Amino acid sequence: MSKYPEAMTIEPLSEHQWVIPTLVKWYRSEWEPYYGSEGPGDAKADLVSRCNRNAIPYGLVAIENNHVVATAALDIDVTTNLTPSVVGLLVGPEYRRRGVATALLRATEHHARELGYRRLYVSTTVLHSLLHRLGWRATGHVEFLNNERGSIYVREL
Ligand SMILES: CC(C)(COP(=O)(O)OP(=O)(O)OC[C@H]1O[C@@H](n2cnc3c(N)ncnc32)[C@H](O)[C@@H]1OP(=O)(O)O)[C@@H](O)C(=O)NCCC(=O)NCCS
Repeated sequence: MSKYPEAMTIEPLSEHQWVIPTLVKWYRSEWEPYYGSEGPGDAKADLVSRCNRNAIPYGLVAIENNHVVATAALDIDVTTNLTPSVVGLLVGPEYRRRGVATALLRATEHHARELGYRRLYVSTTVLHSLLHRLGWRATGHVEFLNNERGSIYVREL
């Protein structure tokens, strides 16, 4: 797998709050049942809540050439109630399949450890091979709002 571009950096969302409007658009279109106008979620409120500097909810963003490329956060997972979990992992549509999610997952692991956690969770329908490669272990099943079934993974830190 090629390394993500040199120009990309992963930084706290708290230092890049200017990206929130773009992330709100991405969240609403990617997770319409939850963040759309009929859904229970509030994308802007969730993102703003992740602007802590040394505590969860803790957001990260990938930035490249002054554009936001992707985001993820450490927070409680509202589907599984497990905490801390990697939530809201989203790579901008034009930046996919070049290792950005892999880099962001590694960064979330690093920051969870820095915050003193020894275990991290994620629930997903899509990231299976990537998570296995990074040393995560499947630990259960979950059903999402849209009735899709996914898996819960855990990473010992
Ligand atoms: C799922 C998602 C986060 C993946 O992001 P991504 O940056 O494309 O992920 P990566 O590039 O790190 O890895 C994805 C795949 O691309 C492959 N890949 C990575 N770099 C690559 C490259 N340079 N060329 C070709 N393929 C590459 C990886 O091997 C991986 O393949 P695999 O799934 O078969 O293992 C992204 O598609 C997304 O945001 N989707 C919508 C929201 C979503 O589903 N989020 C997950 C919630 S848990």
